[in-house]
Amino acid sequence: MVGDSVNTSGCHESRLLIVGLGLIGGSLAAALRVAGFQGQIAACDPDEQEIARGIEMGLIDSGGTQLAELVDDATMVVLAVPVLAMESVMANLAEVLPNASADVVITDVGSTKATIRACAQRVFGQVPTNMVLGHPIAGSEKSGVAAANPRLYVDHKVILTPEPNVDRSALQRVRCLWEACGADVLEMDVERHDQVLARTSHLPHLLAFSLVDTLARQDERLDIFRYAAGGFRDFTRIAGSDPVMWRDIFIANKEAVLASLDDFEAGLSRLRHAVEAGDSDALIATFDRASHARHYFDSLLNKTSYQAEYHMQPQGKVTYRVQPGGQAQGRLRVPGDKSMSHRSIMLGALAEGVTEVKGFLEGEDSLATLQAFREMGVAIEGPHQGKVTIHGVGMHGLKAPAGPLYVGNSGTAMRLFSGLLAGQAFDSELTGDESLTKRPMGRVADPLRLMGATIDTAEGGRPPLKIHGGAKLKGIDYDMPMASAQVKSCLLLAGLYAEGETRVREPAPTRDHTERMLNGFGYAVSREGDTCWLQGGGKLTAGPIDVPSDISSATFFLVAAAITPGSDITLEHVGINPTRIGVINILTLMGADLALENQREVGGEPVADIRIRYVPLKGIDIPVDQVPLAIDEFPALFIAAANAEGVTRLRGAEELRVKESDRLQAMADGLAVLGVQHTTVEDGIDIVGNGDAQKASYGGGRVDSLGDHRIAMAFAIASLRASDDIIIEDCANVATSFPDFVELATRIGMGVSVEGAHE
Ligand code: S3P
Repeated sequence: MVGDSVNTSGCHESRLLIVGLGLIGGSLAAALRVAGFQGQIAACDPDEQEIARGIEMGLIDSGGTQLAELVDDATMVVLAVPVLAMESVMANLAEVLPNASADVVITDVGSTKATIRACAQRVFGQVPTNMVLGHPIAGSEKSGVAAANPRLYVDHKVILTPEPNVDRSALQRVRCLWEACGADVLEMDVERHDQVLARTSHLPHLLAFSLVDTLARQDERLDIFRYAAGGFRDFTRIAGSDPVMWRDIFIANKEAVLASLDDFEAGLSRLRHAVEAGDSDALIATFDRASHARHYFDSLLNKTSYQAEYHMQPQGKVTYRVQPGGQAQGRLRVPGDKSMSHRSIMLGALAEGVTEVKGFLEGEDSLATLQAFREMGVAIEGPHQGKVTIHGVGMHGLKAPAGPLYVGNSGTAMRLFSGLLAGQAFDSELTGDESLTKRPMGRVADPLRLMGATIDTAEGGRPPLKIHGGAKLKGIDYDMPMASAQVKSCLLLAGLYAEGETRVREPAPTRDHTERMLNGFGYAVSREGDTCWLQGGGKLTAGPIDVPSDISSATFFLVAAAITPGSDITLEHVGINPTRIGVINILTLMGADLALENQREVGGEPVADIRIRYVPLKGIDIPVDQVPLAIDEFPALFIAAANAEGVTRLRGAEELRVKESDRLQAMADGLAVLGVQHTTVEDGIDIVGNGDAQKASYGGGRVDSLGDHRIAMAFAIASLRASDDIIIEDCANVATSFPDFVELATRIGMGVSVEGAHE
């Protein structure tokens, strides 16, 4: 506040001179005052009244109309004049400050940077090292010092565009100036700044001016505006901005503005054609992409979560603290199956016709798949409460995406996409988050290469994957070295585009959702024993899809009930595809009281309500043939083992080492923290359980989920039988498969609190 004796602003200039006391310069002074800036603030402006008003408002200490009288003792000069006035002001400055010591820092606030840099070069011979060009991305349709707003820059970006030879301390001082005003300071080069601003600021202003002017000309008496509703007001607010300032900007940033205007005109003309032709798919595709982009933008502004944020920002760290004890009671419906959700979008997009999906998992993994298809031009409505409508584009209707397709944490998306994209006419690139970047992709790239695809991977067969389009694929007969539904599905999807037959033999049965769903879309997939095959060159026909609840998510509550005395839980509408029921078989072998009720078939997949009640569990040797059928369920099953009487032994599960984390190691480390005895081997683990229902089975402590959703949820349910709080780190990725896990866990009686989540 003005009058505070301590400078709390972080900006230590002793005398700041603002040249041009309008909205931007005035708001800078106001913000510094509020921040506790203790230096002198002077202003120079050709309009004496503006200076007088600035003094009266308490924003500046002194001022005048002549630069020469004001520059003495200034430690920093901020040029806040319109862009086209910049050169004469700089020339004036060069005269009155001929031997400007490097201690005087000069900066500006102009909206275009190339022209201002050119002014500086003309006036000074080169951009002086003590000059730091900058641009606060903030403003208002109001102008003049009277509109000064001390909060104008709070949480707004200020872009600095320093020259390579800039004096580093000058740069730091300008940074401090803006940070004192609450701004977020970043740096970029001049050219990039001008292109970005042409698109995000200059173009929208041009459109707003043009729209209002066009309507106003059509209606000289301006009667039409009486009927204008909120849409018009929202769209055109900025047409009330300062005309002189904007004229200057368009003259100064001509090239970049024209380039962005070309892009805009092309887009507008596409929309015009769509309206003319009544092309509802094209309209939906454009509006849907725009609407999602706008929500994404909102989420960036409000700092809330949106899966697309993965493109830009590291996820915040989320920690669960789970109280010991609690019950496990009630009826629950867990979210839709992740594997089927991915596939429903993929096949729906390639089908002819409209696919309506119910029960779609609105988790980050399947949303990443959905987003990727939008980026390839597919119109997708939703998701709204699990409902998604996909306007299929046919086998050859995908369009080249503008950039790499980002699939977040999802191995399934990356591997299935690699097959599907290998058959396209365009080049593509698949990228993912830190965990996915470590996972093996050679298992898909190698057989795809045998089919004739050209795929580049990073070292060791890791992502990103670069897939060259236009390859002529040929069917192969492939003997999979590991039991992987992802590899099988990848090859079947590539096989759709291949000449002849694609056959895949699996060493053990793996989930068969791809085969079932392809059949559901009218594409024949045959199977005999351990081999399935299809012929390339067919087509898919859209149809409704009902995605059941995910047995992998249900598992956490099955185990919660299986380990907690007095529990009785029913999980509704769970998919019980025979290739997924390893968890039911294993828990039953351990002695669990588990019943399948109301068994039925929904859209080609078997479904049931699963009721589970507590009875003491016993340790077992897990049959090796159950491993692929329970591959995602082991983190939770290890917690069941820790609560069973005797030793549970798992072998043949080396695949667990290449999931979202090394799950054998991650679980072993967490079990060690809780004090559960265990021994790991390369392909498995022995866990010594504590089956005493009268006592806690283990202690509490802090465990690291390593960003693996299933490790996080497994240790959360472990707390039901712990003696102390379990604190689980790095849980944000629970949202990849089970966004409402905490809510459901709380509903059955667990005490979970979440720290560090986005508000
Ligand atoms: C999946 C297959 C499994 C599984 C993954 C989903 C699928 O992976 O672990 O969560 O949807 O095809 P692998 O096929 O690599 O074992």
